[in-house]
Amino acid sequence: MDLSRDAAADLDARDPLAGFRSRFTGAGDDGPGRLLYLDGNSLGRLPADTPAAVAEVVQQEWGSGLIGSWADWVQRSRRIGDLLAAGVLGARPGEVLLSDSTSVNLYKLLVAAADARPHRDVLVCCADDFPTDRYVVAGVAGSRGMTVRDVPADIDDGLDLDVLAAALDERVAVVVLSQVAYRSGALVDIAAVTRLARDAGALVVWDLSHGAGAVPADLTAAGADLAVGCTYK
Ligand SMILES: Cc1ncc(COP(=O)(O)O)c(C=O)c1O
Repeated sequence: MDLSRDAAADLDARDPLAGFRSRFTGAGDDGPGRLLYLDGNSLGRLPADTPAAVAEVVQQEWGSGLIGSWADWVQRSRRIGDLLAAGVLGARPGEVLLSDSTSVNLYKLLVAAADARPHRDVLVCCADDFPTDRYVVAGVAGSRGMTVRDVPADIDDGLDLDVLAAALDERVAVVVLSQVAYRSGALVDIAAVTRLARDAGALVVWDLSHGAGAVPADLTAAGADLAVGCTYK
């Protein structure tokens, strides 16, 4: 790989996403003391349109519209969900909603999925997965008298599907898994895992937080059961 400055400038010049840079505050600063913000945690650069959009919601929609704005706010959950479904997730209209936080949504879907497999008593998750996901899995298991089965993953290679397959049996109700591992960026094949889980009679709840919009996720084609994600990556 050519690591020269010219090669980097050439890649920049051909980057199809380059035009989006100017939509974020601070990105126009190309001076020598500029901040190079490469942090992968959950607070990206501020989109330039956001302050005005937030002010509009507070000053006009709340300040002037009062409860007259509620109908539109409620519809937005579905309207924006439909945009994400079509543009990012490969899901069908009406299948995606914007609501709550990732952990709250994971809790809701996990409980519903466990209810749908009433005679099974094991939840499977990845030992390397995002901590709050694992806490939700442990909490749901604890409150229902279920057992958590942790599947190991390699920091470089990600999750080995044979290892996952070995953890799936007739006791497993639900598998909770991230499409993209938050520490390594390792990618999991949604369709392949869904097939494995289905063969074992289990459901999968996907965490798409680090995947949605960054890597393809054709949920309908993959036959995905349930998924959560977040809007702030
Ligand atoms: C992969 C992943 N899952 C879950 C969460 C938890 O999200 P929340 O704080 O919205 O519950 C995060 C937050 O960064 C995350 O990156």
